[in-house]
Amino acid sequence: MFQPARFRRVSLQRKAKADSEELRETVIVKIGLDLVQVDRFLFSPAQAAWYGQRIFTDVEMSYAAQKRYPQQHLAGAFAAKEAFRKALGHSVPWREVGVVHTEDGAPALALGPTAQAKLDAIGNIVVHLSISHTGRDAAATVILEQLPV
Ligand SMILES: CC(C)(COP(=O)(O)OP(=O)(O)OC[C@H]1O[C@@H](n2cnc3c(N)ncnc32)[C@H](O)[C@@H]1OP(=O)(O)O)[C@@H](O)C(=O)NCCC(=O)NCCS
Repeated sequence: MFQPARFRRVSLQRKAKADSEELRETVIVKIGLDLVQVDRFLFSPAQAAWYGQRIFTDVEMSYAAQKRYPQQHLAGAFAAKEAFRKALGHSVPWREVGVVHTEDGAPALALGPTAQAKLDAIGNIVVHLSISHTGRDAAATVILEQLPV
């Protein structure tokens, strides 16, 4: 059941804490979400060559090629590029926004100079990325978090 009084108390406590200490240190500036159909990324060799030159980075293409269903991973990477554009509020060249992975498989974005410059214009930003896919759809969320200067 909705409890407005309780919500108000919690929010006042958080505000008091933010006014005094660490909650004020970082701010979520923007989020971006994108959802794409996986079968758009089921490529013929000619299409793969075209997308590999214009849309996806070499790292993204070779990551997907190692997987059982490459189209799911390419769709996820494409959703990540779109989600980043939404969060940033600017279009940037596709290959300047590339998905990379940490050793445990977690995704992150590697940015080219134009994309990085647009991000730097906002402030001291850290980019968070999450990707999910099924056989049918892929989704990505990007969060831009501003760190203290
Ligand atoms: C990570 C995990 C939750 C993915 O869930 P899933 O339902 O199998 O698959 P989803 O389609 O939802 O997500 C796949 C995406 O998850 C992301 N992912 C993979 N490992 C990840 C990790 N350790 N942390 C965050 N995201 C991860 C990748 O972006 C992947 O897509 P991509 O390879 O195309 O980039 C699952 O593989 C898992 O439980 N792994 C083992 C435990 C683990 O590493 N947990 C996370 C950290 S404790």
